[in-house]
Amino acid sequence: MTPQRVRGHGERSQTMKAPMGIFDSGYGGLSVFKKIAREMPWYDYCYFGDNARAPYGDRAPSEVFEYTKQAVEWLFTKGNAPLVVLACNTASALALRRLQQEWLPEYFPDRRILGVLIPVAEDIAKTARPGDRIGLLATPATIASGAWRRELKKYLPRDCSIIEQACPLLAPLIEGGYGNNEATHAILKEYLLPFEKRPVQSLILGCTHYPFLLSHFRSIFGKNTPLFYSGESVVHALKSYLIRHPEIECCLSRDGTKEYYTTGDPAEFRKKAEQLFNI
Ligand code: DGL
Repeated sequence: MTPQRVRGHGERSQTMKAPMGIFDSGYGGLSVFKKIAREMPWYDYCYFGDNARAPYGDRAPSEVFEYTKQAVEWLFTKGNAPLVVLACNTASALALRRLQQEWLPEYFPDRRILGVLIPVAEDIAKTARPGDRIGLLATPATIASGAWRRELKKYLPRDCSIIEQACPLLAPLIEGGYGNNEATHAILKEYLLPFEKRPVQSLILGCTHYPFLLSHFRSIFGKNTPLFYSGESVVHALKSYLIRHPEIECCLSRDGTKEYYTTGDPAEFRKKAEQLFNI
C-alpha cells in the first residue's frame, strides 16, 4: 500500500503540530470531510482514500480491519496525525472498536481515532420515542457486523426496533456516476420494500454514499421521516470532542491546508472529487 499525493495547497508550519487525518475506503468520505472542513476551516487536514482496495462494503471483517489499520498507521506515522476520523461507515463498524481497545493502547497511546456510528446514534436518540422503528441502510459488511445495532441499543429507548437492509449495489453505482440513473432508483426502491410493510419513524443512511440520493429518499419518505447520516452528526460530535479534549486539539496544526492521498490513481481521484463532490 503506497498512497500517492493527489493535491495540496498551502504549506504547513514546521512545528510539532500536525493535520487531522480523515480516512475512507475511497471517495465517499469526502462528503463527511467537506462538512468538517467547512465547519472548521482553520485546521490542516490530510485525507486518505484507499481507492485501490475499495469498496470495503463486501469485504471480510479481517480485511477491513487490516486495511483500516494500515491506513491509520500511515496517517499516524507519515502524517503525524494526532487524531484520525474514520469517515467510512464500514471501517467504523468493523475496525474502530478493536483499534481503539487493542491497537492504540499498545502502539499509539497518545493518538485518537473516532468513527461515524456513535455521533449518528447519539443524534437519533435525541428524537427517538419508545416503540419507534428505526430503518438502517448500509453495506453488507456493515450490516453483518452488527455494529450499528450494538451502538443504537446503547442510546435508544429499550423497545425501539431496528430494521436493517444491506444495499450492495448502491455505493458502486453512485461511485460509478450512476446516482441519477433510473436503474439506480429502481434498485433503491427494491431495497426499500421492507419499509413499506413496516414503516419506520427514522431512517439511517449508514454509508458515505447514500446522501447522494437524498432527494430520492426525501421523495419516498416525505418530510416527516427524519433521515440521519454521518456528515452532520460527525461535525457536531467532533467539535464537541475537541472542546472536551484540549490535549488532542492543541496538537492539531492550524494553517487551513488540505492534502489528499490515494492508494489509487491520483488523476482519477482528482477527477471524481471534482465531479462528485465539487472539491
Ligand atoms: N465508505 C463506505 C461506507 O461508508 C462505502 C464504500 C465501500 O463499500 O467501501 O460504508
